[in-house]
Amino acid sequence: MRKKIVAGNWKMNTLVGQGKVLAEELNAFMKTYEMPDNKTVIIGTPFTHLSTCVNVVDTNRIHVAAQNCSQFEKGAYTGEVSASMIRDLGVEYTIIGHSERRQYFGDTDEVIAAKLDQCYVNGLAPILCCGEKLEEREAGRHFEVIESQLRNALKNVSAENFCKTIIAYEPVWAIGTGKTATPEQAEEIHAFIRGLIAKLYDTNAANDTTILYGGSVNAGNAANLFAQPDIDGGLVGGASLKANDFISIIKAI
Ligand code: 13P
Repeated sequence: MRKKIVAGNWKMNTLVGQGKVLAEELNAFMKTYEMPDNKTVIIGTPFTHLSTCVNVVDTNRIHVAAQNCSQFEKGAYTGEVSASMIRDLGVEYTIIGHSERRQYFGDTDEVIAAKLDQCYVNGLAPILCCGEKLEEREAGRHFEVIESQLRNALKNVSAENFCKTIIAYEPVWAIGTGKTATPEQAEEIHAFIRGLIAKLYDTNAANDTTILYGGSVNAGNAANLFAQPDIDGGLVGGASLKANDFISIIKAI
């Protein structure tokens, strides 16, 4: 059975001390919360916070993610952080191909494919993001955009590696805007993505893949989104920075 996941993406927010407090608050809650085996909580912190967060949480209950990794293995790449460096800290996941990285940092489909490869080689599970921009949705091109992003990212990914991958659908127009996709709009794309995975791999892979929705998920709308058959949880930005809000979202799964 596929996993249900609530993942926080802190983006470039909090100083280490504040991140530590947030991780501690979540950890205190998770200690007392009966979490079924098929459900997972992940916090995606800035690189500078990873080590601290891995050390303050019970990593059986809260898993830690980075938000990016280098597409290169190692060497003369000033300012970059490799997948092996991240894994070495005890981090299990990393977000790859977030729309903010595609938009501001030149993460093309080719770069994303190389980053995925680094994740697999180094034992990091990628949370692979896809999502259309507002103008693409308005032009009725959303299915085409999602299909092309996923086909390009996964072109050289074996079935064995694919099964370590989490997919996140994040419509760009819903990120940080307070304008969530309706559960029906999100479900339509999630079902489409599952169908695409069945074509690229097989039905078992499609059924086993966790597909998260991201884009203005909050304590009030999470339950309705997560009730959809193909929405297996959320990738949460703003609401993951407040312990109480994130806890409500964890409860909604
Ligand atoms: P918000 O939840 O702030 O809209 O951000 C979503 C997101 O980009 C998560 O990766």
